[in-house]
Amino acid sequence: MPVKPQQHATVNPAIATHAHDGNGTKFDYHGFYNTELDKKHKDKSYRYFNNINRLAKEFPRAHMANKEEKVTVWCANDYLGMGRNPHVLKTMHDTLDEYGAGAGGTRNISGHNRHAVELEQSIAKLHAKEGALVFSSCYVANDATLATLGSKMPDCVILSDSLNHASMIQGIRHSGARKVIFKHNDVQDLEEKLAALPLHVPKIIAFESVYSMCGSIGPIEEICDLAEKYGAITFLDEVHAVGMYGPHGAGVAEHLDFEAHAAGRPRGTVVDRVDIITGTLGKAYGCVGGYIAGSNELVDTVRSLAPGFIFTTTLPPAVMAGARAAIDYQMSYNGDRRLQQLHTRAVKEALNERDIPVIPNPSHIIPILVGNAALAKQASDKLLQDHQIYVQSINYPTVPVGQERLRVTPTPGHTKEYRDHLVSAIESIWKELGIKRTSDWAAEGGFIGVGELAGSAEAETPLWTDDQLGIADAVRELRAVSPTRVTDRLLEREAKEREEATSAAATVTTAAAAA
Ligand SMILES: Cc1ncc(COP(=O)(O)O)c(C=O)c1O
Repeated sequence: MPVKPQQHATVNPAIATHAHDGNGTKFDYHGFYNTELDKKHKDKSYRYFNNINRLAKEFPRAHMANKEEKVTVWCANDYLGMGRNPHVLKTMHDTLDEYGAGAGGTRNISGHNRHAVELEQSIAKLHAKEGALVFSSCYVANDATLATLGSKMPDCVILSDSLNHASMIQGIRHSGARKVIFKHNDVQDLEEKLAALPLHVPKIIAFESVYSMCGSIGPIEEICDLAEKYGAITFLDEVHAVGMYGPHGAGVAEHLDFEAHAAGRPRGTVVDRVDIITGTLGKAYGCVGGYIAGSNELVDTVRSLAPGFIFTTTLPPAVMAGARAAIDYQMSYNGDRRLQQLHTRAVKEALNERDIPVIPNPSHIIPILVGNAALAKQASDKLLQDHQIYVQSINYPTVPVGQERLRVTPTPGHTKEYRDHLVSAIESIWKELGIKRTSDWAAEGGFIGVGELAGSAEAETPLWTDDQLGIADAVRELRAVSPTRVTDRLLEREAKEREEATSAAATVTTAAAAA
C-alpha cells in the first residue's frame, strides 16, 4: 500500500503574529536559568555534587570519579551499613534473578506483587499498626499523604513544626489546606495554636521524631496528648529514626516504651497513639523507598485517593525484598544499633574534648557548627582534598543563614582508626581556617545550644541509655578510673576482648587439628 505523505498543520497567521506581541521578543529561557543560578551562587546556596561511589566491600570507604582515589564517607544516611549487609544483598540477588529488574507497572496495573504485600506486612508489624503503604520514597509518601488528607478533609488545618522537612512542607502546600506553623518542639506554642481553632475542624499535627540537621527529638507523647485534647490526628515522620531506635528499630515512638515493646506489648504505648507514622527504606535500611503506617481505613483512603501512589511504577521487586530483609534483620538484632550509638558517643566526646562546636542533641546526628556558608564549604572541600574524608557542608536553605554546619553520621563501620583520622583532620582545618570553637561561641553568650550552659546536659543526654545499650556497669567502672574518653576506652576494651576471644578460638582450633 502506498504510504500517504504526512500532513503538516499550517501555522495559523493570527497565532504566529500573536507570538511576537508584547514587547516583540520571545521569552529568554537561557537568561532565566542563568539568573536563577546566579542567585544561588550569590547567596551561597548553590549545591555541589561530589562523585562518591560507596564500596560495598570496603564500607565506609568510597572511590571518587577515579577508582584509585579513595575516601572515607562520614555523611551518608546508610546509618547501619545495611546497604552492604550480606542478608540484604543475597535476598536482592535471588529476587533479581527470579523476578527481573522492574515491577512492570503501577500497583494497580501489574505492579502489585508478593514483594509489595510482604513488605507492607513487615512494616505494619514493625510499627504495630493495622496496615502500611509503600511509596517510591518517603518524600513522595509525605507529600502524597498530606496533600491527599489536607485537600479531602473539609476545612482541614495542618499544624507543622517550624523545622519540618521539605517533603511535608510541599505536601501541605499541595493540599491547599490552611497551614499553621508552631515553634520547633514547642508544645506550649502548639497548644495555643490548637486552642485557637474550632474543635470540630479536622486538624493534622505534622512533625518529626529525629530532626536530621540538628539531631533534636520531637516531644511525641506531649503532642499525642494535645492531639487528643483538641481533636487532631498526628502525622509523625520517623525517617531518621527507623532502624535506629527502639528494641526492634521501629523508631523513637517505640523507644519511649522500650520495655513494653521488648516484651511484645505495644497496646497503649505511644506508638499506639500516633495516627500516621512515615518512614524511609533508604537510610538505616540501606535501600530505597518510603511508607506510611496506620489504621486500615487510613491506608485504604490514601491508597485509593493519592495520585503520588496511584500513578507511578512500583519499586523493583529486588528493592522491596531487600528492604524487607533489612527491616526483619534489624527487628531481631540490636548489635548494629548499639555499635552505631557507641561510635556516635565516641566522636562527640572526642570533638567536645577538642573544643570543636558540636550542636548538642540526644540523637545519632553530629552537627558541627561553622556558622558561615563559604567557610563551611571550604572546610568540606579541605576535608576531601587534604584528608580524603567526605563530609558535605550543609548550607541555606537546608539550615538558616548563619547556622551552616558539617553534619557527621557515624556508622558501626566507623572504627577507632577512622574516628582518630576524622577528629585530627577537623582539628587541623579548624586551626587553619580560624573557625570558631565552642569557647568562642560561649564567649558571645552561646548560639543554638553551642557554648550555652543552661539546659545543655539535658539536651545532650543520649536517648539510648547505658542500660538499654547494656554498658551501665562497664561505664561506671571506667568513670571511676577517669571521667574522660569513657566511650572510646569502652570500645577499646571491647575490641581487645574480641581480639583475645578470636585468638583463643584460633588456638583451640589449631590444637584440635593437631590432635
Ligand atoms: C525528615 C525527612 N523526611 C523525609 C525525607 C524523604 O525521605 P526519602 O529519602 O525516602 O525520600 C527525608 C530525606 O532526607 C527527611 O530527612
